[in-house]
Amino acid sequence: MLSLLWRAFFINKDFDYYKKRLSSQRIFATHTGSNLLMDYKNSAIRKAAITGVGGFVPEDKLTNADLEKMVDTNDEWIVSRTGIKERRILKDPSKGTSFMAIKAAEDLIQKKQVDPTSIDMLIVATITPDMPVAATAAYVASEIGATNAFAYDLQAACSGFLYAMSTASAMISSGHYKKVMVIGADKMSSIVNYADRSTCIIFGDGAGAVLFEATQNDFGWEDEYLRSDGSGRMFLNIKAGGSLYPTSEETFNNGLHNLHQDGKSVFKYAVSEMANATEEILKRNNIDHEKLDYLVPHQANKRILDAIARRINLPEEKIMKNIEYYGNTTAATLPLLLFDYESKLKPGDKLIFAAFGGGFTWGAAYLTWAY
Ligand code: UT7
Repeated sequence: MLSLLWRAFFINKDFDYYKKRLSSQRIFATHTGSNLLMDYKNSAIRKAAITGVGGFVPEDKLTNADLEKMVDTNDEWIVSRTGIKERRILKDPSKGTSFMAIKAAEDLIQKKQVDPTSIDMLIVATITPDMPVAATAAYVASEIGATNAFAYDLQAACSGFLYAMSTASAMISSGHYKKVMVIGADKMSSIVNYADRSTCIIFGDGAGAVLFEATQNDFGWEDEYLRSDGSGRMFLNIKAGGSLYPTSEETFNNGLHNLHQDGKSVFKYAVSEMANATEEILKRNNIDHEKLDYLVPHQANKRILDAIARRINLPEEKIMKNIEYYGNTTAATLPLLLFDYESKLKPGDKLIFAAFGGGFTWGAAYLTWAY
C-alpha cells in the first residue's frame, strides 16, 4: 500500500506518458531506475540502435567575405556573434532538398552495404521539401531503391531530426519494423532572403542520414525528453504559402515566403530550453560531465553551444561542432555532426543530442553508440 502511494505521489508527466504508450505491450517502465523510458532487460521490447551514417554537403561555399559583398556585414561581426566562417550552398536551381537527401542516403547504403529493398520506413526531416505537397521522402525512397518502404516528411524545424530519431526508435522498439532510415536535409538557401543580414549569414545547405535497427549489443536509444510550445511561432517562421496566408501578390511583395527570425528572442529560449532538456536527461540517467563522451547539439550559434557547455560544466572537446564550416543547416545539423565525428566514435560511447527550433520545438535524447 505504501509503495502504491509512493508511486502515485512521484508519478510525473513523462512516466504517465510512457506508461500509457507501453501498457498495450504489457511492458512496465521503471521510475526508480536511472532510465525513466523503459526497462529493456525485463521486457520483450528491443532497443533501437544507429547502425550506419551517411552525409552530403554541396561543393559551393558561401564565405563571410562573399556575404560582405551582399549585405552590410563583416567577417569580424559574423565570427564573433555566431562562430560561422562559411556555409555550403546548393547553387543549381534545378536541384532541391531531395538531391542532397538522396546523396546522403546513398553514401550510407554504399558504406554499410545496405540492401535498399530491406528498408521498411524512411523519414525525411525538413522544412524545405522539394514541393509543399508530395512528400520529399517518398521521392527519396523511390530514387534510392527503397521500394518496400513507406516514407513521409516530418516538419519540426531544427528539432526535426531529433523528433524523427525518436519516431524511428519507437518503430524499431515496437517490433513493427526492422530497418528505418532517418534523413535530415535542408536547402536553406531556397528560403533565405539574401538581403536580410540577420538571417542570411546563419544558414547553409546539407543532408545527413542514419539507419536504425534493433541493437545487437545492448547499445542504442536510451532516453528522450521532447517538448514544444506553439506560442513561440511568431519568433521564427515562414508566414506565407500555407493555409493561413496562401500565396498572393501581397504575400509575395511583402517577402512573406522567406524565413523570418527574431534572433534575440530565439537565442534566449534556445539557450535555456536546450540546457534544461540536456540537464534533465543527464540527471535522470545519472550521467555527469565526466561520464558523457559527446554532446551533439544543434548548431545555431557558437555562443549557444558555449553557454550550454558552461551550464553543464562540459569541456569544449566533448562538444561536437561543425558550425564554423556549415553554419546552421536546420534538420541536417545533427546527422552531419555524426557524419563528421563517426570515425572518432566507439561502441558504448555516451552521446546526448540537444536541439531547439521553430515552432517552438526542442528536446534532448541519450544514445549509446553501437559500433
Ligand atoms: O536554429 C534555430 C534556432 N535559431 C537560433 O537559435 C538563433 C538564435 N539567434 C542568434 O543566433 C542571434 O540572435 C543572431 C546571430 C541571429 C543575431 O545575433 P545577436 O547578437 O542576437 O544580434 P542582434 O540581433 O541583437 O543585433 C545586434 C546588432 C544590431 O544593431 P544595433 O541595433 O545594435 O545597432 C543589428 O542590427 O547587430 C546588428 N546586426 C548585424 N551587424 C552586422 C544584425 N545582423 C548583423 C550582421 N552584421 N549580419
